[in-house]
Amino acid sequence: MALERTFAIIKPNAVQDGHIGEIITAIEQAGFVIHGLRMAHLTPELIEGFYREHIHKAFFPELEAFMMESPVILMVLEGEDAVRRWRELMGVTDSSKAAPGTLRNRFGKGITRNAVHGSDAPESAERELHYFFSAFDLV
Ligand code: RTP
Ligand code: MG
Repeated sequence: MALERTFAIIKPNAVQDGHIGEIITAIEQAGFVIHGLRMAHLTPELIEGFYREHIHKAFFPELEAFMMESPVILMVLEGEDAVRRWRELMGVTDSSKAAPGTLRNRFGKGITRNAVHGSDAPESAERELHYFFSAFDLV
């Protein structure tokens, strides 16, 4: 399988709880190469564009408020089968059901406050990483 890129976010609850370093360590230990990394405090406009498929869902207002609570870490990760392997390392959406050792199991606090984001397909990964990073920002 060829190298693939995916897009990751360390969400506000994990930033607030001081887990940036542990999550980046887990990413590096899993063999991903970080090709882009920055901190941002998201606005309603940015969140609505990013989560456009969720905008009409009942949980969206709660998700939007959560994602604006504090800065987040935005990252582009590269590796073999990166989209699938990053989601595997994250665990399932609901942190209380995430398998032991996954990042959501370790650092999540429920469905909304689930510590990390990962693209769900190679096509969404490319859209999402270009949404936040210009070619100049990617090494
Ligand atoms: P993500 O996009 O953040 O990696 O998460 P995901 O694919 O596992 O989950 P998705 O269905 O795309 O939902 C996006 C984010 O919305 C919040 N959510 N809340 N209260 C709820 O029922 C609910 N469902 C989803 C979570 O923060 C989820 O990661
Ligand atoms: Mg998703």
